[in-house]
Amino acid sequence: MPGIVVIGTQWGDEGKGKATDQLGDRVDYTVRYSGGNNAGHTLVVNGEKYALHLLPSGILNPGVPVIGNGVVVDLEVLFSEIDALEARGVDTSKLVLSANAHIIAPYHKVLDKVTERFLGKRKIGTTGRGVGPAYADKINRVGIRIQDLLDEDLLRDKVEAALVQKNQVLVKIYNQMAIDPAEVADELLSYADRVRPMVRDVARELNDALDAGRLVVFEGAQAHHLDVDHGTYPYVTSSNPIAAGACTGSGVGPNRLDRIVGIAKAYTTRVGEGPFPTELLDEDGERLRVAGGEFGTTTGRPRRCGWFDPLVVEAACTYNGVTDVFLTKLDILTGWDKIPVCTGYEIDGQIVSTYPVMMDDIVKAQPVYEFLDGWTEDISGARTFEELPPTCQAYVRRLEELIRCRISGIGVGPGREQVIMLHDLID
Ligand code: GDP
Ligand code: IMO
Ligand code: MG
Repeated sequence: MPGIVVIGTQWGDEGKGKATDQLGDRVDYTVRYSGGNNAGHTLVVNGEKYALHLLPSGILNPGVPVIGNGVVVDLEVLFSEIDALEARGVDTSKLVLSANAHIIAPYHKVLDKVTERFLGKRKIGTTGRGVGPAYADKINRVGIRIQDLLDEDLLRDKVEAALVQKNQVLVKIYNQMAIDPAEVADELLSYADRVRPMVRDVARELNDALDAGRLVVFEGAQAHHLDVDHGTYPYVTSSNPIAAGACTGSGVGPNRLDRIVGIAKAYTTRVGEGPFPTELLDEDGERLRVAGGEFGTTTGRPRRCGWFDPLVVEAACTYNGVTDVFLTKLDILTGWDKIPVCTGYEIDGQIVSTYPVMMDDIVKAQPVYEFLDGWTEDISGARTFEELPPTCQAYVRRLEELIRCRISGIGVGPGREQVIMLHDLID
């Protein structure tokens, strides 16, 4: 059972970090394959909380943590995250960095912020970490890669080339100061000595590991509905967090992915702009936000909250070939008399029961609900499905029916041990 991908099935923050960590010390490699430090993955291990933005969650386990070519790397963040973990006694020395990963340069962060300001009411609500502009440069073929850091002349030349056009845009359109290429290059080069020993041919190493029967977990960031191809475009991130992104973002073939684990929160949240059919703008939304501690790990923004939307999760399961769903934060739903679950959307007077492709329909969609019985018992100590109250079991079984995918794990608290496993994810 060598290749497992963990992806978000909603709009992020489903608990991918915890689910990845859950796979634990059986894992030989944990690979981040897309996104950058726009991600915020929180893990609670032995009562200690760790918030990771760029490093794979596997950094807390004995296996090898890997940053694949599909990731965009902010070197300042990388080393401050490494230093903070080392200060807490975590060994980060095994970290491997793909030579082909792109770098988030200081000008990407400036551009991210000024572009959002310029968009005004059309803004995306990005995390402001420079992720979109770094991916744009990659596609425009003016990006700076990790391997460029190892050749000073080449790096200086590339930074200069990248800034020729950007400085025009910054000065003439955004009324900003021009950025000095030498300063940028000096800053990037200051990390070269620390980067050098980490740089490897990740694609080769992962394929060799898979050939040898090692267990490789690909840890998604963001989620299906934030995917630049499949998400609520343009309110998406600029990469491919979907399962297929694990292949392009690390250099393994699709036939290497044996299990696709979709993480789904027992309700729904979203950060930033964009449509969200089951969003609750009333006190119920506030109640979910407070109960679930729904404030962004990366930006601290309050997350928008709403009821579980099986249409959203079913689409993600289908389009990613999800084999197992891990349902998180079920404990947060304790205490509701009735729990609404969306069974369809009303769009222009018609009821649909599958997630629409047209953005206009998603924007107009009015959720149709059925109301399931809630429970009041504290479930955070449950470790088997049978220990859950019958109405809680019925909630899980009904979601399973609606998303048309088996639920293999259930999170009942933030701690590493607070899970109920129905099917082993590694077999
Ligand atoms: P990610 O971005 O998908 O890794 O998710 P985040 O870390 O941004 O957000 C998930 C939050 O929920 C974190 O604070 C986790 O510690 C927490 N969490 C994960 N699973 C559970 C669970 O089953 N129950 C509770 N109460 N919290 C959980
Ligand atoms: P994890 O991995 C939730 C959202 C931003 C914004 C949009 C684009 O923790 O689930 P970007 O900075 O990527 O250009 O912003 O995507 N977004 C996330 N929302 N969780 C995340 O990551 C996110 N990463 C990006 O809020 O709406
Ligand atoms: Mg998160």
